[in-house]
Amino acid sequence: MAVATLKWIFRLLTILTISHGVCVIFQGNVMLSGIDIKKITEELKELMDCPVKSNITQRELNRVRLHFSCNASGTLILTKQNTALNQTIQYETNTKVKHKVNPELYDMLPQDFPWNSKYLGQCAVVGSGGILKNSSCGAQIDSADFVIRFNMAPINDSDVGLKSDLVTVNPSQIRVGYKDLDKNPGPLVERVSVYGNASLILPAFAYTFNTQLSFSTLKALRSVNAPQKVVFFSPSYLKMLDRFWKARGLKEIRLSTGFMLINVALELCEHVHIYGFWPFDVNLDQQAISHHYYDDKGPSRRMHSMPQEFLRLLQLHSQGALTMHLQPCA
Ligand SMILES: *[C@@H]1O[C@H](CO)[C@@H](O)[C@H](O)[C@H]1NC(C)=O
Ligand SMILES: *[C@@H]1O[C@H](CO)[C@@H](O)[C@H](O)[C@H]1NC(C)=O
Ligand SMILES: *[C@@H]1O[C@H](CO)[C@@H](O)[C@H](O)[C@H]1NC(C)=O
Ligand SMILES: *[C@@H]1O[C@H](CO)[C@@H](O)[C@H](O)[C@H]1NC(C)=O
Ligand SMILES: *[C@@H]1O[C@H](CO)[C@@H](O)[C@H](O)[C@H]1NC(C)=O
Ligand SMILES: *[C@@H]1O[C@H](CO)[C@@H](O)[C@H](O)[C@H]1NC(C)=O
Repeated sequence: MAVATLKWIFRLLTILTISHGVCVIFQGNVMLSGIDIKKITEELKELMDCPVKSNITQRELNRVRLHFSCNASGTLILTKQNTALNQTIQYETNTKVKHKVNPELYDMLPQDFPWNSKYLGQCAVVGSGGILKNSSCGAQIDSADFVIRFNMAPINDSDVGLKSDLVTVNPSQIRVGYKDLDKNPGPLVERVSVYGNASLILPAFAYTFNTQLSFSTLKALRSVNAPQKVVFFSPSYLKMLDRFWKARGLKEIRLSTGFMLINVALELCEHVHIYGFWPFDVNLDQQAISHHYYDDKGPSRRMHSMPQEFLRLLQLHSQGALTMHLQPCA
């Protein structure tokens, strides 16, 4: 039943995607026109009630594929190990622009990948979907060995947990919210203090305007000796990952950061649990939910194709390669 259901959803979404384009179907509140959300949520609820099956063969297959194609453990972030003084770094989205690794930048890089020595055990990747509100998933998330969060999202012991090991920062959050970081690092330092000794990761070389914002973030936190280390995504990793998924039919301008880090977890962790990844504006009981668990601001539909990514995640869940959580935990 569950497999037939999934096949049905894939077929339906594929047909709709081809005939209308995902953007039309999934924009804001009209995103569900043409799709029977009631049917989808009912079927997914049934799927979520199936016993979780973990397929170690499938997990290892994914890990090996990702490792040989993208190599997160060697290249996810720029380190002194994988980056040489005076080399140039090619931007992820604009191969014509390069940035030279001068001593100042080299000095910002960590010696080596911080999580290398062994596979991480259980990892929780916590998206920001409104589906997490009142979920009571905090304790379960906190029980993971490694927790990944996004965009400096607020944390909460009840719904999303407090443990944080890797937290993404969007450079535009710095641009908008933390002007004059060199003179006034206080507010940012305060904002990230809730994450303890987590690493903060920024796409410093995705777009040229990201670079100085990312450097300022690192310098601001360094200037006060904050326990949070700032690291930069390696643009070549992101390009490899993009290529990996394009070759598997995922067509979008740029993968979402959430999807990127789920892939990182699939390579680095024994078991991956994902929370808060849900592209619809009602929950499985068809109650309206906010866009994020902490606010109701809409996403950038321009860039990401959340439903396409969601289908891949569902597929990984149904293969037993990761566990997707869409319902309250308690
Ligand atoms: C586990 O995954 C492998 C590889 O995809 C597949 O051949 C096998 O049938 C799966 N096992 C189960 C029990 O689903
Ligand atoms: C991954 O990257 C590391 C560091 O650059 C390298 O030592 C290792 O050989 C790479 N592994 C693969 C499979 O490419
Ligand atoms: C880097 O370039 C500078 C000059 O631009 C040179 O003095 C220095 O020796 C170079 N260092 C390395 C490690 O290549
Ligand atoms: C969450 O719980 C609060 C109080 O228990 C309630 O007012 C609110 O409507 C709930 N929100 C959702 C999205 O379920
Ligand atoms: C970070 O802090 C936690 C407890 O707060 C500790 O268990 C962990 O070892 C620390 N990690 C690092 C890399 O310092
Ligand atoms: C955070 O937790 C409190 C209870 O501890 C709850 O009332 C509140 O709704 C939660 N907020 C979010 C954003 O999850």
